Amino acid sequence: MSLFNQPMRTGATTRPSPAEARLASTRTDRMLDINTHSAQETFAVGEQLGRLLGPGDVVCLQGDLGSGKTCLTQGIGQGLGVEGTINSPTFVFINEHRARQPGPYLYHVDLYRINDLLDALVLGLEDYMYGDGITVIEWAERARELIPEDRLWITLQYVGPSERKLLFVATGAHYEELVRELDDALHLTIPGSGEQSH
Ligand SMILES: Nc1ncnc2c1ncn2[C@@H]1O[C@H](COP(=O)(O)OP(=O)(O)O)[C@@H](O)[C@H]1O
Ligand SMILES: [Mg+2]
Repeated sequence: MSLFNQPMRTGATTRPSPAEARLASTRTDRMLDINTHSAQETFAVGEQLGRLLGPGDVVCLQGDLGSGKTCLTQGIGQGLGVEGTINSPTFVFINEHRARQPGPYLYHVDLYRINDLLDALVLGLEDYMYGDGITVIEWAERARELIPEDRLWITLQYVGPSERKLLFVATGAHYEELVRELDDALHLTIPGSGEQSH
């Protein structure tokens, strides 16, 4: 949670300060939705995304059990060059993976078992998100208030036994550009995907 640039709330006014307005004007949303028709396809989308991620990036995954969050994360790991298996860290809160040397760490967080925000704070979620690794968070909505404003938020939905809908919402110029690049990469690598992009 950023403690910087917090405006002082002194009166009844809710008008943004010039600094807030300037920040807000650089924060825009960009959306992309993709339907995948197999676990392999979800993995492939993750792999393309992983190739584009860099130090400090935060990727939030929201979706029910079985919607494909871990599958997508495994693809991200592949794209980052992580060796070894990426499993759901449901029982351990976080798994740290080293991406291809000299690559950044992949921090794979699962908030399924936290009771409240304090749990996430105590477990050091912010240290990961504001660190130099790439943080991918399953059940991110459970700590929504702690997540940086600029982030990539992916909502996964079960459509059918082998179909999932992935909605990407990028907030901030950096993630907007990332989603634009992902859209381009998917058009090149997975024919028929990404055509519903905005
Ligand atoms: N299009 C698809 N995308 C992702 N997973 C799929 C798809 N179709 C079937 N599946 C299956 O759904 C399951 C997804 O599980 P997982 O990634 O562990 O979900 P979550 O982490 O959201 O609970 C996997 O067993 C996978 O084989
Ligand atoms: Mg999972």
